[in-house]
Amino acid sequence: MCGIVGYIGKERASTHIYDGLSALEYRGYDSVGISVIDERIHTIKRSGRVNTLKEYLNILEGRIGIGHTRWATHGKPTQINAHPHNCGVFSIVHNGIIENATQIKHNLINNGHTFISQTDTEVMLHLIWDNYNSICSENSANNSTFIDMTVDSSAHCDITEQVTIGQQPNTVMQEGDCCMDPAYLVLLAINRALAQLSGSFAIALLCEHCKDCIFVAKRSAPLLIGLGQDNAVVASDVCALGGGCDNALVLADDCVGAVYIDKVCCYDINMDAVQLTSMSIEHNRVQHIDKQQDYMIMEIGQCPLSIQDTMAGFGQGVDMVSFSRFCRTIDRIMLVGCGTAYHSCVTAKYLIEAMANVSVEVDIASEYRYRNPIMHSKTLFIAVSQSGETADTIFALKLAKKGGLTTMVITNAPTSTITTIADYVFITKCGQEVGVAATKSYCGQLAVFISLALLLARIKLNTDTTSLEQQSALVHAQAKSIIDNQQELKALSNIVADSQSVFYIGRNIDYATALEGSLKLKEITYMHSEGYPAGELKHGTIALISDKSLVIGIVTVKHVADKTMTALHEVKARGAKVLLITCFAQYLQDEVVDYHYLLPYSPSLFMPLLSILPLQLIAYYVAKGKNYDADKPRNLAKSVTVE
Ligand code: G6P
Repeated sequence: MCGIVGYIGKERASTHIYDGLSALEYRGYDSVGISVIDERIHTIKRSGRVNTLKEYLNILEGRIGIGHTRWATHGKPTQINAHPHNCGVFSIVHNGIIENATQIKHNLINNGHTFISQTDTEVMLHLIWDNYNSICSENSANNSTFIDMTVDSSAHCDITEQVTIGQQPNTVMQEGDCCMDPAYLVLLAINRALAQLSGSFAIALLCEHCKDCIFVAKRSAPLLIGLGQDNAVVASDVCALGGGCDNALVLADDCVGAVYIDKVCCYDINMDAVQLTSMSIEHNRVQHIDKQQDYMIMEIGQCPLSIQDTMAGFGQGVDMVSFSRFCRTIDRIMLVGCGTAYHSCVTAKYLIEAMANVSVEVDIASEYRYRNPIMHSKTLFIAVSQSGETADTIFALKLAKKGGLTTMVITNAPTSTITTIADYVFITKCGQEVGVAATKSYCGQLAVFISLALLLARIKLNTDTTSLEQQSALVHAQAKSIIDNQQELKALSNIVADSQSVFYIGRNIDYATALEGSLKLKEITYMHSEGYPAGELKHGTIALISDKSLVIGIVTVKHVADKTMTALHEVKARGAKVLLITCFAQYLQDEVVDYHYLLPYSPSLFMPLLSILPLQLIAYYVAKGKNYDADKPRNLAKSVTVE
């Protein structure tokens, strides 16, 4: 949640920051802001999306700056609450949550600070400013020779005159009040502030006393630094680093750093100088698309290729000898994820148990991490995360590691935080996914799980999987046939859009698909919808069924198909309309079926890859019909880096 970016170079910073923020907009898009520094700090911020800043780029002239695109946690998405926040000689952008902000704010108010926003970020900034003043006072008291600080510390100018700058506390450091390197003093102030803060954060900060660098710090939130030929960039994600850097420097938790155009000075929690680790980055450029087209529909269209490439690339870059050796010993698999990634885990439970006879447990990451889970050494723990940055999933993974489990991750982001933690990293080959609602990455995750189920079947049960593998080569073509003939689904979307409530029901893997189909509809159309196990409907939820309800039955698993059909009869008897999505043509004639969609037939192992596609397409066309932005639905963000 929230994207931060900073730029130091020879060109206008605001343009680079704007491009970086556009790339990071998937992390939140309710308000946006940029600060640049020349002789002074200039800040512009707005509620709304990144493009609301475009008209101001020309008047922000500095060569150093920071920017932020926000997903509100503390305080409404107003202009005042937008980042950057300014105070004293500082301007800050922040991604994360300060958990003890209320207590700290109370103490700061008692010390004379006043606040203008409802954000935890402003609290953090005042705490840094408070520490900075104390450090400078200590320093000046101990030294008689003052350096001449050439900067006017009377703070900031807001070009648009629409943002009130934060009040300064009573104690204000004056020019020339210290003799040490001012950058070191700022780093020390941040370091001391960090010790008082709980929560997770990544920050970038400008200081009017140090006009040649950006200060950075982090704890349990991503922050990368890229050094190019004649610029340096800091960003929440590789996609905002720009094309000039082939390597990213990774700041460790609780370290503080000053990023200059050609170097980074970094200190650990004890203020001992540390070297940053470097990793090579693959620029996963987003394919430029026609403005008339949404990313979501383009990404659904890329599902067949994602399935094909991910299956073909299964295990690439993984020590499969060691992985297979460990898999032979396991008697349990633990799966965790959030949102769509959790739904891929639910599907995987059915697939793996059926194929490989290994017991699989599934949990939502935010539940797993707080339930004191029981851990056995013969367990393979798998965390699934498209972005590799979801806070709850990362914490669940860390917990499993701490408990001594062997860990694997499935992610679409090869340089994400999660890849640095797990023992085995499996990459879905989907290319960057921009639409907030996950589509092709879900298919990629299922493709990894299907390949894993086949591997486990071979090594644990000696199953001959040759014919299934041959079949898998055909699945992407079947998926493509659904995409190519989407007009039928577009027509069905009108039926969905006219319903008051939409219930998705199924059994076995079709239940998992029902969960994901329902989530897609909720996310981008804001309609009431539920995904339910077909057999569980009559234990309560059927009370909601009326003649304004639509029930979508998903029927692809032979041995439970009749049972789901029975549930459809039950809802039909209570007035609901029925849309059947099945690969079994014989059910289309059933009298309860009002509308239908016939899927291509494939062994049930592969059916979740096919049955989700009509549901993604229907959700998309409902959103389009309602004139909603399917790529950026309200209140959501693609990467949830706070718990
Ligand atoms: C957010 C996104 C969802 C995604 C979930 C988990 O809620 O809007 O689309 O499924 O996070 O994200 P992850 O990156 O961990 O898969």
